Amino acid sequence: MSANSCEVDFSRLKLLIMPQRIQKRRLETIKIAAKKRGVQTVSELSTEVTHIVTEFETVEQVVRALKKDNAATLGDVEIVSLTWLTDCFKAGKVNVATEAYRLKHDTLESADNGNEPEENTSLLPEWACQRATPLEHHNHHLTAGIETLQLYSELRDLDQDYSRALAFRRASCVLKCLPFKVTDVSQISNIKDVGDHVKRVVKDILEDGSSAEVDQINNGEWFNKMKLFTAVFGVGPSTAKKWIERGWTSIQDAVWVEALSKDWRVRWGLAFHEELQSRVERPEADNFTAMVRAEAESILPGTTVELTGGFRRGKKMGHDVDLLISHPREGAEVGLLPRLLKQLEKRGVILCGSHERNSFTEDVLKQDFKLSLRGQLDHFEKWLGICKFPKQFATTQNGHDVVQEVAGKTDVCSKLSGSVEEDYEPKVKLRKLGCADECPRSVASEDRDWLARRVDLIVAPHSQYYYALVGWTGSKHFNRDLRLYATRVLGMKLTSHGLYNISQGSMVPASSEKEVFDNMQIPYREPAQRNC
Ligand code: UTP
Ligand code: MN
Repeated sequence: MSANSCEVDFSRLKLLIMPQRIQKRRLETIKIAAKKRGVQTVSELSTEVTHIVTEFETVEQVVRALKKDNAATLGDVEIVSLTWLTDCFKAGKVNVATEAYRLKHDTLESADNGNEPEENTSLLPEWACQRATPLEHHNHHLTAGIETLQLYSELRDLDQDYSRALAFRRASCVLKCLPFKVTDVSQISNIKDVGDHVKRVVKDILEDGSSAEVDQINNGEWFNKMKLFTAVFGVGPSTAKKWIERGWTSIQDAVWVEALSKDWRVRWGLAFHEELQSRVERPEADNFTAMVRAEAESILPGTTVELTGGFRRGKKMGHDVDLLISHPREGAEVGLLPRLLKQLEKRGVILCGSHERNSFTEDVLKQDFKLSLRGQLDHFEKWLGICKFPKQFATTQNGHDVVQEVAGKTDVCSKLSGSVEEDYEPKVKLRKLGCADECPRSVASEDRDWLARRVDLIVAPHSQYYYALVGWTGSKHFNRDLRLYATRVLGMKLTSHGLYNISQGSMVPASSEKEVFDNMQIPYREPAQRNC
C-alpha cells in the first residue's frame, strides 16, 4: 500500500496512531480531526491498516513498541511521522508525498540484527568534560524538558544556590552523550547524574509524551515573563524580577525605561529588542568575522581573529558573535582594539558598545572564583556591544565588499561619536554628543538596510590564547565542568587565562588547544563535541 503523491480519498485511510510521545490532549484533537474527515483510526495493527502514524523516529522503535520481532512482520504498511497526517489535514487531501515523512531504519540497531544498541551506561566517564557531547544527539525528547526545569530553578533560586539547577544540567548533559535513544527509564537507572526527580520526569515524558511538571512551568506566567524580560540585552534576572513586581507583563510596559535607564545596554537592548531576539545566522557571523579579520590584518599584520562561542561548536544560529582576537607575537595585541574599533566605526558597523580594559594580573590566576551559571567573568580587554550587520550579510559570500558599499550610505555612527578614545563608553559619548534619550528608538525606526547584532570582541595575549580559545568556545557547562575538574581532581585552577599549578606556584603553558586538554589529563575533544 502506498499513498505516494497520488491523490487518495481520506476515507480510504485506516490509521494506527501510536499514542507514545503524543500529548493526550493533542492525540484527542488529532483523532477528532481524523473522524471529521472520515479517516478511520484503529488501535490494533491488522492487514487493513494503511499507515502507522507515530512520533517515534525509527522503524525499530515502532517494532519494539508494537512488541513485534522485526520490521518484516509489519507487512507493507506505511510507517510515517505524525506531521504527515497533520500536513495532509492542512492540505485537505492525501496528496502529500509520503517519502519525506516515512520513518527511517536505525542503522545502528538494524546492523546489530535487531539487538539493542550498547546501553552499558556504567562505561560513561564521570565528568562531562571527559565525554564527547555532540550538538545532535538521541535524546532531545528528554533534554528539552529537563532544561526547562534547569532554567526555572536558575531563575527562581537566584542569588541562593545553583545546586538544583546544576543537577538538572548534569542530567541533561549526560543524556546528550548517550549513544542510544532512551525509551525506558530503566535504561538510565544506573547513571549517577540522573537523580530521582529527573527519572520521574523522564518516565512521564516516555509514557505520556510530556511531563505535567514541565508543562506547568512552561505555561506559568512568572516563568514566561522572566524569559521575556531576561531576553533583553542588559537585563538580568534581578532586573526582570523587579519589572515583574511592578506588574509589567510585556516589553511594551518596559519601554519608558528606555529613556531613563542609566545602562546603555538596556536602552539600546529595548529599542532593538525584536532584532536582537532574532537569531544570528552562520553566514552573517562568517561575513562579519571576515570583515573584522581583514580590518585587523590591515592594522596589524598577523593578527588572528577566530569565531568562537556556539558557532565554533557547530551551531547554525546564535544569539551573538564572539570573536577572539590575538597575535602570535606576545604584546603585539596591546593597543590593537581601539584602533580596530575606530576602523570599524569608519566602516559604519558600530552601533554602540563599551570597551573594557585588560584587568589581568598574576593574582587573578590564584584567586578563588565563583562558578556561577552566568558563566565566568574574565579579565581580558574586550568590547561588548551591538553592531550593524548589512542585511546582505545573510545572503552574500563576500561580506567585506558589502560593508564598503553600506558604509557610504549610513551615518548613524557619526551621529554617535567622534573619534574612538581610550575610554569607549557610549553613555559618556551620548551625553557628550548631546544625543537625546530617545536616540536608540529613533535609530531603530529609521529606514535602514542593516540589522542590529550583539558582538563580543575579546583580546587575548598569545601566552593565554589557547586557554582563552577553550573558554570562549564553551559550552558554558563544558567550561564549568572543566574548571571544577581542575580544582577537584588536579588541585589546579583553570580560567580563560591559563591553568595554574597551585603546588608549584606556576602557570602550565599551552601552545595548542590539544595541549590544554593534555595539561588537564583528559582526552581532546573537538569543539563540536563540547556541546554539553
Ligand atoms: P555565549 O554566551 O555567547 O554562548 O558565550 P554561546 O554558546 O555562544 O551561545 P549562543 O549561541 O551565542 O547563544 C560564548 C562562550 O564564552 C564564554 C561562555 O562560557 C561561552 O562558553 N564566556 C562568555 C566567557 O568565558 N566569559 C564571558 O564573560 C562570557
Ligand atoms: Mn555566542
